[in-house]
This record gives sequence, C-alpha cells and structure tokens, in this order.
Amino acid sequence: MELKVFPDYNELSAAAAEMIVGCVRSKPDALLCFATGDTPKLAYQLTSVLAQKNNVDFSSCFIIGLDEWMGIPPENTGSCHYFLHHYLLSPLKINQRQVYLFNAMTANEEDECDKMDSIIAGNGGIDFVLAGIGLNGHLGFNEPGTATNTMAHVAILEEITKTIGQKYFEENVNVSNGITVGLKQVMQAKTLLMMANGRKKAPVIKRIMEGEASIHFPASLIRQHIGGVLMVDNEAASQLETPFK
Ligand code: PGA
Repeated sequence: MELKVFPDYNELSAAAAEMIVGCVRSKPDALLCFATGDTPKLAYQLTSVLAQKNNVDFSSCFIIGLDEWMGIPPENTGSCHYFLHHYLLSPLKINQRQVYLFNAMTANEEDECDKMDSIIAGNGGIDFVLAGIGLNGHLGFNEPGTATNTMAHVAILEEITKTIGQKYFEENVNVSNGITVGLKQVMQAKTLLMMANGRKKAPVIKRIMEGEASIHFPASLIRQHIGGVLMVDNEAASQLETPFK
C-alpha cells in the first residue's frame, strides 16, 4: 500500500481524478467500482473534465456502484444512485448499458447480490475501486467485523453509519440496512484507492496507518492490499506520528 498526502482537498481530488482517467486510458474496458459521499464529489466532477481534456474514451468501461441504502429509491437525492448519476455518470455521458447500481428496492436481496457477484466475476474481478472511509472504518457498507471472504451482501448498519448518513438526505430517513460489494471483492480489486480529507478523518487515518490491520476496522485492510493507495489531505494526515509527504 502507498500513502499519498496532498496539501488540500483540491489537489487530493485532482490526483484521484487522474487515477480514474489513467485507469481507463490504460484499460478501456476496465470494471470500475465507485463509492459515494462527500469525499469523492470533487474527484468525480474533475474526472469528466479531465477525460474530455485528455480525450480518454469511457465508452467501453463498465461501472458499478459500491453500495446503496436499502429501501431508498433511486430518485431520492440522498441515494447513491442519484449521486453517481449527478456527479459522474451523466457528466461522463456513460450509457445505461455500461452501469449496474444495486436496486435497493428489490424484493429479492439474494438475487440482487447474485447479480452484482456475477457482473464482477464475469469481468474477471474489479480493476479499480474508489472508496471513502467511514468514521467507524467501514469500507462501502462492509461494517466492522465483516469477514474478509464476504461477497455482495445486505449489511445491518451500525448506529454511527445511520446517524452520519442522515447528512446526505433532505428529509429524515429510517434506514437500517445497506447493500454493498463485499470485502473480498474490494480486496481483490487490482487497485483500491481510498480517499479521506478534513480534520474529522484524522483519527481514522491514524488508526489505519498505526493501528492493527483488521476486520474490526475494515479500511485498515488497505495496508494488506498490494494495489492499495490511500490518498489524504494534510488535515486528515495531521495526527500521524510520522509526517508523510
Ligand atoms: P463521506 O463518507 O465521504 O461522506 O465522509 C465516507 C463513508 O462513510 O464511507
């Protein structure tokens, strides 16, 4: 794993966009898996600008969503569906045929997870995952304690995930489960890019880098990932013992 520290959120986001575009440039039919959240917002906005500027064609890649709030319809502005369409898929002019996002309204959760598993397996695994980091260390909705051999599944969300998740919604929502690509699939991705910015993520980055790498803090498993890149801004790196640059 590699740790990269950037002076601020803008530079961090620009570097993440470079990685996304670079992945598709070197493998046009890559399978890309994208998280939502406040962290990757600017990186996604910059991705379409950079792709256009560098003439990188995204029409052969396939994109999956890392996770989704169960029971939240795609038109809800707080859903991962809405976010990905708004910040990434529409600006990049990605065709619907190139995308699979979890159907959080499904009556058959098992079937929904199987669908995601077979897309990932059918593509020979994920090429590139971009994930944020939850304050409890979750990776997608792989909450603390999730086994490392987990495939796509529906997870019971921790209180902190539900409480913090409320920030994405305009109204009060009552969500108790999330559907997510599994820890095994994330860890087997060729590249795992994890991003964090801001002072509130500093304790999380400290724990990832200086604590034990374990399922009790799933994001810490990036330390065991050969293609892991942890990119943070100075504020998120501010509690690290060794100042990294
Ligand atoms: P955030 O969420 O990007 O909104 O901080 C990160 C996460 O919970 O994975």
